[in-house]
Amino acid sequence: MRVVRNVAEMRALASERRRRGQAIGFVPTMGCLHEGHLSLVRLAGTRAPWVVVSIFVNPTQFGLGEDFEIYPRDLDRDCQLLEAEECDLAFAPTIPEMYTEGHRTSVSVGELSEKLCGRSRPGHFDGVTTVVLKLFNIIQPDVAVFGEKDAQQLVIIRRMVEDLNLAVEIVGAPTVRDPDGLAVSSRNRDLSPEAREHATCLFRALRRGEELFKAGERQADRMIGEMRLIVDAKPAVETDYVSVVDPVTLEDLDTIRGEALVAIAARVGGTRLIDNVRLSIGE
Ligand code: PAF
Repeated sequence: MRVVRNVAEMRALASERRRRGQAIGFVPTMGCLHEGHLSLVRLAGTRAPWVVVSIFVNPTQFGLGEDFEIYPRDLDRDCQLLEAEECDLAFAPTIPEMYTEGHRTSVSVGELSEKLCGRSRPGHFDGVTTVVLKLFNIIQPDVAVFGEKDAQQLVIIRRMVEDLNLAVEIVGAPTVRDPDGLAVSSRNRDLSPEAREHATCLFRALRRGEELFKAGERQADRMIGEMRLIVDAKPAVETDYVSVVDPVTLEDLDTIRGEALVAIAARVGGTRLIDNVRLSIGE
């Protein structure tokens, strides 16, 4: 597997593949790879013969007081994990490579970026869309794979691709969970054993929402009330939101009539965690 650290070389290699008519699969990451990321890489490998994984802790998506400085970085370990997968190239640019002196431009997907996590992380999704568009421009992928765990990010990226006529197919990959139900995340390593135990209430709350839905409940407020009982029972869990929203517009729903995204965000022992499930009347 090749490791590329600069933009010009990455662009040249991607252009060469395109000239040869070879489709490019892409998985953007911030490193600290885990089973969730590796499942995205495997999925990309089924969709394209040449797979690029980016590893870049993107400073513009971290707010003041967030964990940019302490975000775990271990390129050697990440590359070892990728070697064992269907990854052909790891693109790990430096910050000055990605954000040249005097950079000013950013991409914003408007109000979608201000809902749910956007309320407590202003500017976060503008940082995400800006870096993802830059990566798309450099790597020129035919298909890019994103985790469904970051449901709002996936909705926003799909909107950006549609709005800006980008020639890339966006594929969502199912959330990978540990045996106790906790969604796999780079931030789980910050949880103490006790906090980790408390954190499983997020999944239990979502599962309760799903059970109610399967039993015929369609009123969002009643589902949210029941889910909150589960998270609020853990004093160490500080809930940011429990929401039932439209999976495309992210607008709050009163009544579920078709599809819904049930999303939850909370701080557990200082670590911010998110999780979600999709509900569909047709299924
Ligand atoms: O999901 C992530 O890890 C990041 O938001 C992404 C998509 C790699 C952009 O920095």
